[in-house]
Amino acid sequence: MSIVVAIDGPAGSGKGTVTKLVGEKLGLVNIDTGATYRCVTLAAINKGYKLEEENKIVNLLNEIDIEFKKKENEEKVLLNGKDVTKEIRSKEVNEMVSQVSHIPKVRENMANFQRKIAEGKNVIMEGRDIGTNVFPNADVKIYLDATPEERAKRRMKQNEEKGIESNYEEILENIKFRDHNDKTSSVAPLKQAEDAIYIDSSNLSIEEVTEKIIEIINYHFGDASKNGKN
Ligand code: DC
Repeated sequence: MSIVVAIDGPAGSGKGTVTKLVGEKLGLVNIDTGATYRCVTLAAINKGYKLEEENKIVNLLNEIDIEFKKKENEEKVLLNGKDVTKEIRSKEVNEMVSQVSHIPKVRENMANFQRKIAEGKNVIMEGRDIGTNVFPNADVKIYLDATPEERAKRRMKQNEEKGIESNYEEILENIKFRDHNDKTSSVAPLKQAEDAIYIDSSNLSIEEVTEKIIEIINYHFGDASKNGKN
């Protein structure tokens, strides 16, 4: 029997960092589902396709091979054999990925792919619809949230570290706009699964959230660090 831990929530909730840490500590394979949508988007950009060319993007799915590989202790994302770990975080991909992820056939295809790569493994999977759609029967479901204000502060800090100048009010507006779009979308709206445990990370450190999630998993399984290692 394999274990599935689903971590869903909005951008800026800290789920990427926390999922990685929990996965490392408990020996669960970490699957970043956002990266799969980013790969489709990058493939479309490389072909020069525009968002309006939905059919072309959907047909492209047949030509795409996505792999997650650990290399020198770092998680790498490969698209048709090429390391695209950095490229999928580019500004161009950032600007287009949300719309690409809203194409119903892309979602269907990626959800199937995500189920396939999790097969037979003990996984911790991070995304938007893992507990509601990809693995509705996941063993443990967490919905990780933070206030828009806190997420805007975190984004400001990230930008500062990268030397990017930014304006708090603008970032906050953008986050609120995206939240509204994500939650009211007719295709896979972002929402908490009924049986998910809600964690508000606004006033918690990364370490505190990590500990909290590990406690929840351990409580569910007795001791997941033993079960989780395969
Ligand atoms: O988490 P991220 O920023 O890497 O996600 C990239 C995009 O993909 C983002 O617009 C949300 C979307 N996404 C999704 O719709 N469903 C998922 N399971 C994961 C990500």
